[in-house]
Amino acid sequence: MMTLGIETSCDETSAAIVADGTRVLSCIIASSKDAFEHAGGVIPEHAAREQIRSIQPVIDQACTQAGIALHAIDLMAVTRGPGLLGSLLVGTVTARTLAALCKKPLIGVHHTLGHLSSTWLDATDEPQFPVLTLSASGGHTELWLRTGHLAGTLLGQTRDDAAGEAFDKGASLLSIPYPGGPSISRAGEQGNPQAFPFPQPLAGEQTLDFSYSGLKTALKYTLRDLPDAAAHTADLAASFEFALCRHLVDRVIRALHLHSDIREVHLVGGVSANTRLRSMLTAACDNRTVRFPVRLLYCTDNAAMIAAAGTFVRQDHANNDDFVTAASLPSASVFR
Ligand code: KG4
Ligand code: ZN
Repeated sequence: MMTLGIETSCDETSAAIVADGTRVLSCIIASSKDAFEHAGGVIPEHAAREQIRSIQPVIDQACTQAGIALHAIDLMAVTRGPGLLGSLLVGTVTARTLAALCKKPLIGVHHTLGHLSSTWLDATDEPQFPVLTLSASGGHTELWLRTGHLAGTLLGQTRDDAAGEAFDKGASLLSIPYPGGPSISRAGEQGNPQAFPFPQPLAGEQTLDFSYSGLKTALKYTLRDLPDAAAHTADLAASFEFALCRHLVDRVIRALHLHSDIREVHLVGGVSANTRLRSMLTAACDNRTVRFPVRLLYCTDNAAMIAAAGTFVRQDHANNDDFVTAASLPSASVFR
C-alpha cells in the first residue's frame, strides 16, 4: 500500500510517500524555523503563511523523489491535530481536496500517533509489542504502554510544560537560539553536567507523570543569583540538559519495574534526537531492546510518521475522512 502523508501541525511543511507503513520512499520537509530563531518560539500567523507557500511544492517533490504519480497512491493521511490551527488547516484542506480529486481514501491522524509509529520507519527488524514508548516533543511528554499499533494505555504525562518546551524555555533564559534542544546540547558540549545540581521533579511521588516547570524556574533563579552567568553557559546548559534527561529516564525505569512484560523501550518525538538522553536511556535499560527513530529526520515532525500511522489505521478499519481538524485533541483520541 502506497501512502501519501502530509504533516503541517507547526512550523514544518512535510510530505512523504511510504510503502506498507514502513518503507520510506521519500520524505520532504520545509521548515520556517530559521525565521523564529531569535523570537524564542513560533509565531503562528507567520508559520501558517509559510505552510501555504510550501505545501504544493513539497507534495510535488515527495512524489517526484519517490517516482510515483499522485493518482497511483492508494491512501492519503494527514495530521488532524493537535497543533497550530492555521497550520493544520493548510494540511487538512489540501489533503481533502487531493483525496476528492484523485478519489482516494483519507485518514486523519492524531499527531502523537504519528510519533508513536515513527520507530517502524525503515526499521531493519519489526519491533515487538508490548512496547513502552516515551514520546517527548515541544507539545507533549507522554509515556505509553502499547500492545499494538492502535492499542495502548497512557501511563503518565506532563503536568505542566513538555520536555521540548522546557528545552526551548531554558534556551531562551540562557539567551541561546530556538529551537532549544539542539542549541542547549551544543552549548553544553564542553560543560560539566554536575556543575549545577538542579532538583529532581516529583521525586517523592509514586507517579509516572512528569513536571518541568520547576526545573525551568530553578534555572531562572540560578541565573539571577549567579554573578557573571554568561561565563558559565556551558556548565549551565550541560547541567540543565542532564536534569531534564534524568527526569525522563527516571520515569521509564519506574514503568519498567511496574510492567515486567515490556519487551522494547522506544524513544520518539523531537527530544529523541538528544544524544545525552539516548545514551542515558540505553544505559538504564540494559536488558531490553531500546529503539529510536532510524533517522534523525523521523524524530522531529515529519510526514513519513503520519503516513505510517495512517496506514496502520487503514489496515485496522475503514476511512475516517469525517475527522475534525482541531488545535487541541485529548490523548484518549490518539488511536481513533
Ligand atoms: O516533535 P517536534 O519536532 O515538534 C512537536 O511536536 O513539538 O519536537 C520539537 C521539540 C522542540 O521543543 C525542540 O527543542 C526539541 O523537540 N528538540 C530537541 C532536540 N531536537 C529537537 N530536544 C532535545 N535535544 C535535541 N537534539
Ligand atoms: Zn511532534
